[in-house]
Formats: sequence, structure tokens, C-alpha cells
Amino acid sequence: MSIFDLSGSAEHDEFFGSDAARRALSVTAVETDFVNGVYQNLAKVYDYTFGPTLHAGRLQAIQRMSIAPRSRVLEVGVGTGINTVLYPKDCSVTGIDLSSKMLEKARTRLARKGIRNVRLLEMDATNLTFADDSFDIVYAPYVISVVPDPVAVAREMHRVCRPGGRIVVLNHFRSRSRIGAWLETAIAPITPYLGFKSDLDLPAFLAQADFTPVSIEKVNVPRIWSLITCIKE
Ligand SMILES: C[S@@+](CC[C@H](N)C(=O)[O-])C[C@H]1O[C@@H](n2cnc3c(N)ncnc32)[C@H](O)[C@@H]1O
Repeated sequence: MSIFDLSGSAEHDEFFGSDAARRALSVTAVETDFVNGVYQNLAKVYDYTFGPTLHAGRLQAIQRMSIAPRSRVLEVGVGTGINTVLYPKDCSVTGIDLSSKMLEKARTRLARKGIRNVRLLEMDATNLTFADDSFDIVYAPYVISVVPDPVAVAREMHRVCRPGGRIVVLNHFRSRSRIGAWLETAIAPITPYLGFKSDLDLPAFLAQADFTPVSIEKVNVPRIWSLITCIKE
């Protein structure tokens, strides 16, 4: 039984806490221009720094999604396009990103690898230009702790996903262990300069985004990243 089937129970209260719907998701606040600037600079080195270290989670996510032929997939925050080579060739993928330099790298990758089922668009995830219910799968790998307003992004992801489709979030969230959480909160004011917030609050994010996951798996080594799957009703 998952924590989401336990409403009213002590486990549910322990996971969410009484103020999950209101409390801040992180001790740090960033602006979109700041995030864009960081990723414009990171574009040159991204594949070497965040590439191999986070790849196991990307592979597990693609495997879990078991993408059906002709599926319409939206990748939010496609970055340098590391995931683009992992999608089955018989689905159609739209990758959006804020950073023109990250997208430039992604375009080079698509050309080099001869990938034809992916289109790339420069777009802010808090203001997607797609119609409601446009995609079968909406996937945000390693993005939710990067954006200034994770809940606004989650709402847009939900809006553009078709009813019955899947919303998938792959991300690091603040640890549930006391020492881990203390450390992640202590370094949180610095980590935005490296491209992420280290202390994002998972229960508060789920409560405020109104997401009820069907599964949450731990991925990567160490297993401190979460692969979250929701189905849009
Ligand atoms: C950590 S990278 C993830 C890249 C890729 N998904 C991966 O698996 O490696 C985060 C990406 O989110 C993008 N991003 C940040 N804020 C965004 C926003 N508001 N809208 C769209 N993309 C954004 C950044 O430019 C960056 O490319």
C-alpha cells in the first residue's frame, strides 16, 4: 500500500506534515533569468558533469514508461538532449527548454545521431504554448528542482497531458533522514549557482501540485533521486 492510500493515518500525516499545502518548497528562491544564465554557462560542460552521474535514473525512467508506438511525448527541460537518444524511434517527442545554448547542444546531438522523431522548441515550462491534453506522456527529468516555481510547471504539465496519460517527474528531493535533510538545507543557498536546489520538499510539492502518484521509486546511486509517476484522471 502506498502512502497515498493512507489518508487520515499516522503514516500519511508523518509523510505530508500538517502544513504541506502551504509551506515553502525550499529555503532558496531563484528567478527565471538567473536560471537561464546558469544554464547558458553550463551548456558547455553539462554532458560531462550531469551526464554520466544521473544516467541510471534516465534509463530507469525510459524503461518504466514503456512508451507505446505513436505516443506523443513532451520532455520538459530537454537540455542538451541526453534523453533524446533513449526514446523509441516510433514515438514522437517534443523537447522544450528555456536555454538557447542547451538547445544548441541538443540540435547538434540530433544531427550527429540522425534522430528524426524529436523536435526542439525554446519555451518556458511555466507557460507552455501547447493546447490542453496534447500529449500522452509529459516527462520532466531533473527539472523540477531547477525552476523558480515547481508548482506552476507541474500545473502546466498536467494541463497539456491527456486524460489517462502519464506525468513523470525524475528529481532529487530533500532527504527524509534528519542528517541528510540538514545537509541539503545547509547547502541550498549555494546549489542554485550549480543549477539546482538541493532541498526541494517532496510532500509539499505533491500536495501543492495536487499530484497523487501511482508510484515513487528511488533511483541512481546513491538512491536519493525519485522517479514519480502520476496518471491524469
Ligand atoms: C538539469 S537540466 C536537465 C536536462 C535533461 N532533462 C537531462 O536529463 O539531463 C535542467 C534543464 O531545465 C531547463 N530549464 C530551467 N528552467 C526552465 C524553464 N522555466 N522552462 C524550461 N526549461 C527550463 C534548463 O535550461 C536545463 O536545460
